[in-house]
Amino acid sequence: MKISGTGSALPKQIVTNDMLSQFLDTSDEWIRTRTGVISRHVISDEKLEDLAAEAANKALENAGIKAEDLDFIICSNVVNEYITPQLSCIIQGAIGATCPCIDINCACAGFIHAIEMAEAFYKSGRVKNVLIVCAEEPTRMSDWNDRRTCVLFGDGAGAVVLTPGDNIKSVRLSASSATEKLWQYRKLQPTPYITKEEIDVPLQMKGQEVFKFAVTAASKDITRALDDSALSADDVDYYLLHQANVRIINSIQNYLEQPVEKFPTNVEKRGNSSSASCPILLDECNRKGMFKKGDKIAMSAFGAGFISGAVVFEW
Ligand code: ACO
Repeated sequence: MKISGTGSALPKQIVTNDMLSQFLDTSDEWIRTRTGVISRHVISDEKLEDLAAEAANKALENAGIKAEDLDFIICSNVVNEYITPQLSCIIQGAIGATCPCIDINCACAGFIHAIEMAEAFYKSGRVKNVLIVCAEEPTRMSDWNDRRTCVLFGDGAGAVVLTPGDNIKSVRLSASSATEKLWQYRKLQPTPYITKEEIDVPLQMKGQEVFKFAVTAASKDITRALDDSALSADDVDYYLLHQANVRIINSIQNYLEQPVEKFPTNVEKRGNSSSASCPILLDECNRKGMFKKGDKIAMSAFGAGFISGAVVFEW
């Protein structure tokens, strides 16, 4: 397939590090130097599904594709206000599409997993035009009294439209179960038969272990995806990496021995928006006119699971 259009949408409320330090034992200096984040967009009165539909409509317009011409919608999402129906079905109705749709929860690596699925469906002859929407509100997962987690995240939606082509050169996915390193529990409705204890626990993270996993997994995924495409790290024009922490991005950059100019970032003003991070960055670079036809782009993301993935494609 090929990426024919991109779109994104952000909530209007911007929260700066200084705003956080008014109610948390933190500082702009700590957050900036440890993560690279300066501010983030945070959901206030918006509904995530509306941001998702806005990003989707922008991607369709950018691709010149009508909603009724879509054959499949994949939505990547970790949490939203609905348990059911799936977010992709809500997006389908909101944009006026009629095709089948599916949600996936692959944490921050959802965009790469969605591309792999779209590509597989396309190669099996089942679809031609696929919409991927990554819509996330991770700010609703953390405890806002916990300075170790809530300062990291921002909300938003990013979307792409994939159409027939051979621009996706390779995809690599990986999983390595580590449920005690990054997790959140939610309490379900009680029944007369439930005897086990169930608790609501906001997002918990062993930050340094996630950091090490992220650098190792992304470096490996990217190297393997490049090998599969018969490309070297030097052949890549841009590396669009999951925007979790600028220090993670710098570590991967050092591993690949590539110049910083090849690594556009928006983590400074977006924070970590989970799986939406990669397509939001892609859309912002696209709309700045950064890419030219034939550019080689490598994307990689990692998240809870642990799971990770990388894709190499030609613009
Ligand atoms: N402000 C001030 N101090 C803080 C803050 C804060 N916001 N957060 C933590 N600290 C303190 C800690 O309490 C600790 O203090 P102590 O030494 O007195 O105990 C000190 O800073 C150092 O804490 P570390 O956790 O060692 O800090 P580190 O340099 O590892 O940075 C961070 C923490 C930013 C979380 C980093 O580990 C990281 O980015 N990890 C990866 C996170 C990530 O990428 N997650 C992505 C997946 S999220 C998902 O999938 C939904």
